[in-house]
Amino acid sequence: MSSPNPISDDPDTAPPTSHKKLIAWVEQWNDILKPANVRWCDGSEEEYHQLCDEMVATGTLQELNQRPNSYLALSDPRDVARVEEQTFIASVNQEDAGPTNNWRDPAQLKEEMLEHFSGSMAGRTMYVIPFCMGPLGSAISQHGVQITDSPYVVVNMRIMTRMGHQVLDLLGEDGSFVPCVHSLGHPLAEGEKDVPWPCDPDHRCIAHFPETREIWSYGSGYGGNALLGKKCFALRIASVMARDDGWMAEHMLILGVTPPDGEKKYIAAAFPSACGKTNMAMMVPNLPGWKVETVGDDIAWMRFGDDGQLYAINPEAGFFGVAPGTSEKTNPNALATLSGNCVFTNVAHIEDETGVEDVWWESLTDEPPEGLTNWRGKAWNPADGEPAAHPNARFTVPASQAPCIAPEWEDPKGVPISAILFGGRRAEAVPLVTEARSWEHGIFLGASMSSETTSAAAGAVGKVRFDPFAMLPFMGYNVGDYIAHWLQIGKSAIKGRLPKLFWVNWFRRDENNRFVWPGFGDNARIVKWVVERIAGKAEAVDTPLGLLPTQDALDLSGLSEEQCEKIRSELLEVDTDAWFRELPRLQEHFDSLGERVPDEVFEQLEDLTKRLQSV
Ligand code: OXD
Ligand code: MN
Repeated sequence: MSSPNPISDDPDTAPPTSHKKLIAWVEQWNDILKPANVRWCDGSEEEYHQLCDEMVATGTLQELNQRPNSYLALSDPRDVARVEEQTFIASVNQEDAGPTNNWRDPAQLKEEMLEHFSGSMAGRTMYVIPFCMGPLGSAISQHGVQITDSPYVVVNMRIMTRMGHQVLDLLGEDGSFVPCVHSLGHPLAEGEKDVPWPCDPDHRCIAHFPETREIWSYGSGYGGNALLGKKCFALRIASVMARDDGWMAEHMLILGVTPPDGEKKYIAAAFPSACGKTNMAMMVPNLPGWKVETVGDDIAWMRFGDDGQLYAINPEAGFFGVAPGTSEKTNPNALATLSGNCVFTNVAHIEDETGVEDVWWESLTDEPPEGLTNWRGKAWNPADGEPAAHPNARFTVPASQAPCIAPEWEDPKGVPISAILFGGRRAEAVPLVTEARSWEHGIFLGASMSSETTSAAAGAVGKVRFDPFAMLPFMGYNVGDYIAHWLQIGKSAIKGRLPKLFWVNWFRRDENNRFVWPGFGDNARIVKWVVERIAGKAEAVDTPLGLLPTQDALDLSGLSEEQCEKIRSELLEVDTDAWFRELPRLQEHFDSLGERVPDEVFEQLEDLTKRLQSV
């Protein structure tokens, strides 16, 4: 079957742009992928509805009648998370990808992938999605164009990015864009019936070419493997752009916090995947008079403003949050956000005799409703011991719908960041909150971050792994160079203008394996201490690890005596024995990061060792 020419003069198929490079690129991939049709997406509501209707007809989406304009998709059970083993940084030199990334030679990888891409869109439509990461027109934003054969990706990209004709307008005739190629890898022969979730799990490959700033993704339709604006562009490729141009692309939420009598401050926080970033970004503070507003829940791009402060934007336009665990208790704002216009993926489905069709996931309600269909589309039987929703089930929803969205969340100049938190999921050793002594010490804390693994990525869950800056799966280049870039940002900053750096851990467990810290809205207590430290108000005590709140400095009002006692004795003390066990692991961790780790990191480790020895 021959493919239509994307530079045809026919007004129905003619590209809606005169950007020659873009047209040529689309034409080139049209020849390789051999789709039945090419469709330039305009980002309109009509287009969105039309694609959703088509997907309902083909069985990819089920409509939910309890939430306007909302749908459920169930993926192929082999395609449920980011696949880090099949994710590659294909830099020309292996050393530039570094020891934490899977490396492939770019020319060889392209040759192999081209074999899979060849004809992989046969029988399907090739969608062309011009998109913008960040507010339209912001000097911090960047443009991309994704080609995909997945209408599910198109509708999710419409929620997660600013996409469509306005982006083509901004690109003009020669604006630069990151080219992103995505194919599900499931061509359709003439007359072949499609499946609800096409993919090619045996040949999945998510490839990044940092020198040429290109992304090629084959074989998966799920999340970060397929919505290429998110992890692939906004973190892996953007981190390379940021290194080259003196800015920062980080795996961080951004929130605004307003004390009862004070000025609003902005905090960014890095946590590994599925450690509660969305919950923290949307927190309802358990402290009277305190207000938290959301700027972003997953990614922050930061640049120095003219005043020498770091300004952050959220490059995304939506939330792609983990559904299980989201409840009235953990994140009421998220539930309110999900009242309509959402795509749910791999949650459970409810259809009752009164005709109600909706979604459910673990912990949404204390008791599961009757008559659930699980994420595999089968009647759910709790006795089987399997969850009804997949642990990495997701919702995709416009950020603008959040009742807690900060009015300035789309301000093109970004918001000034006063503090950055680094957090992980650690059952022991890491205290509740620690302030770094300096930018360099904070970098050491960020580089030392470790966390128990979660279901956001395929693989074992619950194993402690080091995850520097929560960027382990997202750095587009050598981790040593990445740490050096953080040091360089410190050197290029105007003195006194850098954010303060903190280390947090809400996941400590007691002898009965129960969480000691109540978390969620109570994390506002830590935010309060951070804000007061910025203002030079709260007390801290110098410890071998850094500056910890004094026993009275943390506002624990309203918690029980027993809780306060436990928090003070277990979470605000340095467990020296645990730290002597941690030191060799840290040494091993930094040794494993290769030759390019800056000396400053090892000096910090030596200082920490000396401080612990002198206790
Ligand atoms: C995410 C992730 O989806 O970190 O945000 O995996
Ligand atoms: Mn994330």
